Amino acid sequence: MKKILITGGCGFIGSHTVRRFVKKYPEYQIVNLDKLTYAGNLENLQDVETEKNYTFEEGDIANLEQMTSLFKKYDFDSVIHLAAESHVDRSITDPLVFIRTNITGTATLLHVAKETWKNSKSNNLFYHISTDEVFGSLELKGDFFYENTPYDPKSPYSSSKASSDHLVRAWHHTYGIPVVISNCSNNYGPFQFPEKLIPLFINNILHNKSLPVYGKGINVRDWLYVEDHANAIDLIFHKGKNGETYNIGGHNEWSNIDLIKLLCKSMDQKLGREPGSSEKLITYVTDRAGHDLRYAIDASKIKNELGWNPSLQFEEGLNKTINWYLSNNKWVDNVTSGEYQKYYKKQYSI
Ligand code: NAD
Ligand code: TYD
Repeated sequence: MKKILITGGCGFIGSHTVRRFVKKYPEYQIVNLDKLTYAGNLENLQDVETEKNYTFEEGDIANLEQMTSLFKKYDFDSVIHLAAESHVDRSITDPLVFIRTNITGTATLLHVAKETWKNSKSNNLFYHISTDEVFGSLELKGDFFYENTPYDPKSPYSSSKASSDHLVRAWHHTYGIPVVISNCSNNYGPFQFPEKLIPLFINNILHNKSLPVYGKGINVRDWLYVEDHANAIDLIFHKGKNGETYNIGGHNEWSNIDLIKLLCKSMDQKLGREPGSSEKLITYVTDRAGHDLRYAIDASKIKNELGWNPSLQFEEGLNKTINWYLSNNKWVDNVTSGEYQKYYKKQYSI
């Protein structure tokens, strides 16, 4: 039986990845290690928590002692590493926690994996999930990020992720541990913490709160539905080549303001509101410090080599996402009230 450690499985992308692996591969034992920070929510995995091939462990990737005993307990053959501090705005106000988790945490996992696997005869893999933000910022009209685009991160978040990518490559080059890295564009979909643009604005529209657009709203992001990312992670985990990097993106660029207007229109329809009423909530606010202008991924490598393609058009994915948030307002209410942080205690009688 393959024993896989998935870190950060109680977060947004991690929960979709854990669910996919637990359901699709009953022959794998999946251990989800998560610190349950504000972004970690056990309710995200309610539907798989009693599956035989799933175990949850609470812990901190930057804690060497904890990680050493976790690897001793389970003798993992692979790691899919998603745990991170992930929100750019928080990295601007509180950068040091990003350095600790994203850099020290990744180095700690690499160190323990290397020690565990030094005499191993099985097929090991350290799969590191990263972001396109490591490449910096593009001009509005122009090129894309390729796998060989030089790193030029500009926020504390993206610099900490860039550092972690370098550490993964260093452990591969120096100690020979098998690794693969993927750099993905902006994700959206169910279970995303309502501090990121799309879920925050859905929730604000629902409650008639203002929609704070940073700067002029001209910044461009390349949006990908989260299950398409989880599908890419599955493919790369099984078929990615040792030592390689894969870019993942939807070829789906939207300026923030166009995306927000589309969201407003769709929300008006779904809530039976007068056309144009949600747009009135748009409020232009001071720009984010160092706000990256444009991200856009060239995903030819994963398409050509592994046969991956996004399955959903953006309008379809956005529609599914809005419907999910509207029919799961209990989930959002639990997150915004802090109730979700009691779930662990209730469920695991701690
Ligand atoms: P998230 O913030 O929703 O979840 C992060 C998870 O990591 C949470 O469950 C949190 O409790 C856990 N965690 C944080 N610090 C930890 C620590 N020290 N030890 C153990 N667990 C810890 O993040 P997400 O949006 O799901 O992103 C997951 C990964 O994907 C990150 O590595 C991120 O950089 C990367 N990524 C995200 C996006 C995106 O659009 N969200 C795009 C590309 C790549
Ligand atoms: P975000 O979801 O934070 O992702 P990232 O910064 O990693 O791309 O933001 C997406 C875009 O939306 C980004 O250009 C910043 C902008 N934004 C706003 O204009 N207002 C907001 O309240 C938020 C959270 C983001």
